[in-house]
Amino acid sequence: MDTSVINERYSKLAEDSCCLSCGGAINFSDPKPGEVCVDLGCGRGNDVIRMAQIVGDKGLVYGLDISDGMIQKAQKNAAKLEVTNVSFIKSELESIKLPSGIADLIISNCTINHASDKTAVWNEIYRVLKKGGRFVISDIYSLEDVPDEYKNDPVAVSECWAGSVKKDVYLKIIADSGFSQVDILEESKPYVKGKIEISSFTIYGKKAACCSCKG
Ligand SMILES: C[S@@+](CC[C@H](N)C(=O)[O-])C[C@H]1O[C@@H](n2cnc3c(N)ncnc32)[C@H](O)[C@@H]1O
Repeated sequence: MDTSVINERYSKLAEDSCCLSCGGAINFSDPKPGEVCVDLGCGRGNDVIRMAQIVGDKGLVYGLDISDGMIQKAQKNAAKLEVTNVSFIKSELESIKLPSGIADLIISNCTINHASDKTAVWNEIYRVLKKGGRFVISDIYSLEDVPDEYKNDPVAVSECWAGSVKKDVYLKIIADSGFSQVDILEESKPYVKGKIEISSFTIYGKKAACCSCKG
């Protein structure tokens, strides 16, 4: 998929104040002082800054995004608030520019639906988490199969609906990446977006703390 459309759309939205979230991942994430956290698709950096203020000087928060405009806006916002324990990196979620096993916590809000290779994204989440690390992710799923004409349309995908997959598909991708249990923390009623019905949910999972088993 051509990601330049996503970059362009979100670079324009970087200067807007509209809400781009689809759930309360940050409210469930519970970062702790000293932790290393990651926000996938960090947008303007608001959640990164919130986590950075909690993890403190001994912690660090990475914000990753594919959009140049969002990365610049996030850097400006952090500088304005004199928050220095943050690092904003331009990176696709399918190939996260971070070393393996560094994160205590990965959050994301309304971003993974945009990724054309969701299996790669979830394998990356598993790779980047430390053993015993956790994710809290808000995203959307579709209630019906997205017709091919929209699924492959970068504009429709950038509008947060055409890249969605059905809930059972979503949860299977996560299970296949190695997480043995996923808890649904909140879930919306179905609503229409674009040409289909979708729901949003916030999910939690943990990478097994032991060395040999996945989970
Ligand atoms: C709907 S916005 C959400 C932004 C932020 N999480 C929030 O809640 O305000 C989606 C964000 O994901 C980014 N994004 C979309 N696809 C991406 C990908 N494949 N890799 C990295 N970032 C991506 C966009 O640039 C955009 O900033």
